Amino acid sequence: MKPKVYVATSLPQQAIAYLEEHCEVSRWTGDRGITKEAFIEEAAEAEGVLLTGTTIDESLLARLPHLRVVSNMSVGYNNFDLQAMRARGILGTHTPYVLDDTVADLVFALILSVSRRIAELDRFVRAGHWVKGSAADLFGTDVHHRTLGIIGMGRIGEAIAARGRLGFGMDVIYHNRSRKPDVEDRLGLRYVELDELLAEADFVVLMTPLTPQTQGYIGKEAFARMKSSAFFINASRGQTVDEAALVEALQTGQIAGAGLDVFEQEPIPPDHPLLQMEQVVLVPHIGSATAETRFEMAMLAARNLVHALRGDGEVHIVKELQP
Ligand code: DGY
Repeated sequence: MKPKVYVATSLPQQAIAYLEEHCEVSRWTGDRGITKEAFIEEAAEAEGVLLTGTTIDESLLARLPHLRVVSNMSVGYNNFDLQAMRARGILGTHTPYVLDDTVADLVFALILSVSRRIAELDRFVRAGHWVKGSAADLFGTDVHHRTLGIIGMGRIGEAIAARGRLGFGMDVIYHNRSRKPDVEDRLGLRYVELDELLAEADFVVLMTPLTPQTQGYIGKEAFARMKSSAFFINASRGQTVDEAALVEALQTGQIAGAGLDVFEQEPIPPDHPLLQMEQVVLVPHIGSATAETRFEMAMLAARNLVHALRGDGEVHIVKELQP
């Protein structure tokens, strides 16, 4: 008998067809994100679920007695209560590798956009303000040969470092829980303590995963250590930053600008002060959002689910839940 699975996110037809070949599939068809109550009701019989971002905690698990596998269609899994899942023997999977280059591209898009004022000057041109050649008030800041500081040297951090070093001739420094000597040698990176990175970098890129230890990791003190000419880029999770401290650092000119893909609250509230700032580039959590990469992520999430339920084949189990 095929296992019952519930899909709570939108998937391409090929991923649905693959799941239907191996499982009895039911799906969320609403045009908004699924609510917790609807999820519990719809997934009541499911042994496996495939989703993006739905919080998986004890209050939900207690009401899904058949559940064995949760397949996240994202590399981040801060929506998993790992302790609750471990206690119930639930396998949690995610989609690493396939999005590394795509997220690194987006980080560079933010670096370039904020330093060369692309979004701001696009608004300027559209508003009909371009009346003469590029005067000094339109000047930006160079990216090439500056210092790039990356906090979090996982696979995506590495892809960002490679772009900085090889594409833009940047001096790349990094901070991570553990040193990566092989990456240092291969790409010519320098490991530094966090305070040194904050003080030296022209571009501070935050890529650390959200965990209880990294909640609010970059806050008032960290912004105070950065150069007043530095740009801050966040493509990890909004909660890794103290957003009020970021707003203050931008308002007081403690840092020069920011490029942000992630926010404390998503979607960002319409009255948020960041929306008023010209020196900030904001995008709606699109790090992995290209057609090619989202397709690969969907197929990988579907294969993870099927393989984990069957107990064979390759499965990307999140590291804290690995047997
Ligand atoms: C992820 O997969 O965790 C990324 O945030 C998607 O952009």
